[in-house]
Amino acid sequence: MSQSDQPVAIVTGAGRGLGREHALALARAGYAVVVNDLGGAGDGRGADATPAAQVVAEIEAWGGRAVADGSDVANWQAAGQLIDKAVATFGRLDALVNNAGCLRDRTVANFTEEDWDLVVGVNLKGTAAPLHHAARYWRDLSKQTGMPVQAAVVNTTSASGLYANAGQGNYAAAKAGVAALTVVAARELARYGVRVNAIAPVAATRLTDSVMSDAAKERFDPTRVSPLVVYLVGPQASAVTGRIFELGGDALVAVDPARPVAGLRAEGGVWTPEHVARVAPGLIEQLPPEMTIIDAGRFMQTLPVSSGAAERA
Ligand SMILES: NC(=O)c1ccc[n+]([C@@H]2O[C@H](COP(=O)([O-])OP(=O)(O)OC[C@H]3O[C@@H](n4cnc5c(N)ncnc54)[C@H](O)[C@@H]3O)[C@@H](O)[C@H]2O)c1
Repeated sequence: MSQSDQPVAIVTGAGRGLGREHALALARAGYAVVVNDLGGAGDGRGADATPAAQVVAEIEAWGGRAVADGSDVANWQAAGQLIDKAVATFGRLDALVNNAGCLRDRTVANFTEEDWDLVVGVNLKGTAAPLHHAARYWRDLSKQTGMPVQAAVVNTTSASGLYANAGQGNYAAAKAGVAALTVVAARELARYGVRVNAIAPVAATRLTDSVMSDAAKERFDPTRVSPLVVYLVGPQASAVTGRIFELGGDALVAVDPARPVAGLRAEGGVWTPEHVARVAPGLIEQLPPEMTIIDAGRFMQTLPVSSGAAERA
């Protein structure tokens, strides 16, 4: 493959944890990789260029191509420079993996404005900003050539956002926002040939260190998540867009985003509070049982085992 034929991927937050594994897996799958990482602590404080540089060195050591980038993805302008850097360094952009994230777990009554701004900033704006700049790049390219590009985005949501984990209001709100943004972007960018999907990983990293047993850490090795990312950006997923998958250990789950379940129309066209009060309990009864993050974990453990054939659950 000549260098100009080599596909190019950006992975944000790729200095450590899941992002590091995604970057290494994409490099092994033949991508030149922009390894973005601000390099701060798990709660979003500080910066360090070392983790991203180490991942680049690892990729280059076995003959891959990679470049480090220390942009803060929550900074709109820096996120634009990140997209420009991929194109300036490697001549093109085929895949964007929005993975950077941070945590500051507090209840709604306890979180501060700073906790809110930082967690929503990194997880949600830090997804929206690179997505926006990449979308502009691909839209303009598609208009220039008169052809759809073949590009893909993988965003990172979380079971915390999908199933509303108590104690993580800031993080869950940001990750639920990422899930909604994924579907919106998939609908908007399809005409330019850009697919957008999201993953909700479960992995032993510094973010989950305090909540996982040693057995769980082994089971949820972060390397086990990256094959989903490689699939989603690649040609085998050419018809897959606007979808959300959970992957943790050996379990892969397709998640249905919120949809209406039961409803009534008011006689005379207008609801009164009393009329709502009479029918609301009956509507609620028709909803599926509430799914917590613990229920979702149990669900994963009850899944049938796939042998590798194209099976249905
Ligand atoms: N580990 C899990 O079980 C789990 C579960 C659900 C979702 N996630 C999500 O997966 C992603 C990766 O998390 P992880 O568990 O590997 O954590 P991690 O802390 O090991 O990795 C996150 C990386 O993002 C980088 N980062 C943070 N803020 C940044 C910024 N503003 N700009 C650029 N880089 C920044 C950090 O330096 C770090 O290297 C996150 O979005 C996280 O919310 C993880």
